[in-house]
Amino acid sequence: MKSIYDVLIIGAGIAGLHTALSLDDDVEALVLAKDYAWECNTFYAQGGVAVAVDDEDIPSHIKDTLSAGAGLCDEGAVDILCHEGPTVIKEFIEQGFGFDKDRAGNLLYTKEAAHSRNRILHAGGDATGRHIHRFLMDLLKFPILYNTQVTDLLIEDGECYGVRVFHNSKIFNIYAKKIVIASGGVGSVYEYHTNARTISSDMQGICLTHGIALRDMEMMQFHPTVFVQGDAVRKQLLSESLRGEGAKVVDEDGRRFLFDYDKRGELSPRNIVSQAIFSYQAKTGKKVFLDLTNFEEGFFMKRFPSIYFNMSDIGYDLPIDLVPISPAFHYAMGGIKSDLFGRVEGVGSLYVVGEAANTRVHGANRLASNSLLEGFVFSKRVALDIKLTLKEGKKEIKFDENEPSLIKRGDKSLKNELRSLMWNYAGIIRNEKKLKKALNRVEDMLKLPIGKLLRLRLLSSQEIIKSAIDRKESLGAHYIEKKGDKI
Ligand code: SIN
Repeated sequence: MKSIYDVLIIGAGIAGLHTALSLDDDVEALVLAKDYAWECNTFYAQGGVAVAVDDEDIPSHIKDTLSAGAGLCDEGAVDILCHEGPTVIKEFIEQGFGFDKDRAGNLLYTKEAAHSRNRILHAGGDATGRHIHRFLMDLLKFPILYNTQVTDLLIEDGECYGVRVFHNSKIFNIYAKKIVIASGGVGSVYEYHTNARTISSDMQGICLTHGIALRDMEMMQFHPTVFVQGDAVRKQLLSESLRGEGAKVVDEDGRRFLFDYDKRGELSPRNIVSQAIFSYQAKTGKKVFLDLTNFEEGFFMKRFPSIYFNMSDIGYDLPIDLVPISPAFHYAMGGIKSDLFGRVEGVGSLYVVGEAANTRVHGANRLASNSLLEGFVFSKRVALDIKLTLKEGKKEIKFDENEPSLIKRGDKSLKNELRSLMWNYAGIIRNEKKLKKALNRVEDMLKLPIGKLLRLRLLSSQEIIKSAIDRKESLGAHYIEKKGDKI
């Protein structure tokens, strides 16, 4: 271990690994992974990478992104995403990455909801994230420290000097000139989610303890088609590209009820489909299924191998059997506020990128498959800013290495209570009464003698709830129920 690194990257998903790839080779960098490197949301991403098919498609990609984002997007951020995306993807392909192609060698693009055309690249069928992650790990030129829980940021007088970690049963500090948060979103605060088990809002909570601004934390995206049964913490995602390629959402009588809510039916934006399914189930008590019978079996196995094998393992014969579905938490649009080079407001030398960041590129509702693209594009910008400023002088300060207990007896049951509270009271369909109830309970929990890691989750949850209370009208993924609503 070095006494000081040039760059410390917290997180080994696409945002962290592509930042690493984009740094100069002579930089001394270290990547921190909370668990195995593959325990990240990138690894489990199915659908793909949305990217403009050609120059003419860029304005339309921008339009679709802004329209899904429901007026909350930063237009500059969207412009960067859609304009810089094709170049970054071209470079990635030139580095040797293989997206799926047809027999003639043309890239295959699929469609997902709210995209006005097919523009989603995929790899290994529905194993896009796994293939990208593996490829980036193979290219990683810096050391990686596994099983490393970041417990604090080392900040003094508005400057970040490194992180405090728990690793191999020890607490110690790691110092760096530049620190990049690429630790993902908040999945584990919700009872049902599609996220890797490492994704638990720790860094968002740490930022709150330092007064660093989070933004748009009410904007939590729920994926409409998730198999939520079973004990697994991470629930089985049924990719949106299934619907893009013709799968239907039906009730137990075989009725495609989504058309009652929006004329685009299965291809309505994600928030509309999730809210409709949730509300229809609550109102009618009927079960809801994904009907995949439009697919021919041989094609299905090849195009969606992960879904095919994971569901076969638990007894489903796809594409013949109907799969019971429910919405589940999937992605946080809200996050640590940053500028368009990932610089965290008010703290020097600290960056944030990927799902942990809030540049407002997704606004109030992320367009499907824009997040892997965000990871690619904005990590490159972070690396560029680091390159331009790394040589600037920085004083060296030593911080103490004390940390209060990370976990205390009783935390586990409170953590489970929090998940259920967030799902039921700050989930897909919200109202002020439910949100206030959730807030009161979270604030009570914060007064209990709890460990630091639970405290961080509670602080992030409190922020989600407070932001949801502050936004009185529905917008994008944030839905506040009002009397007479269709949903
Ligand atoms: C999916 O495959 O449905 C997920 C794509 C995404 O979340 O962008």
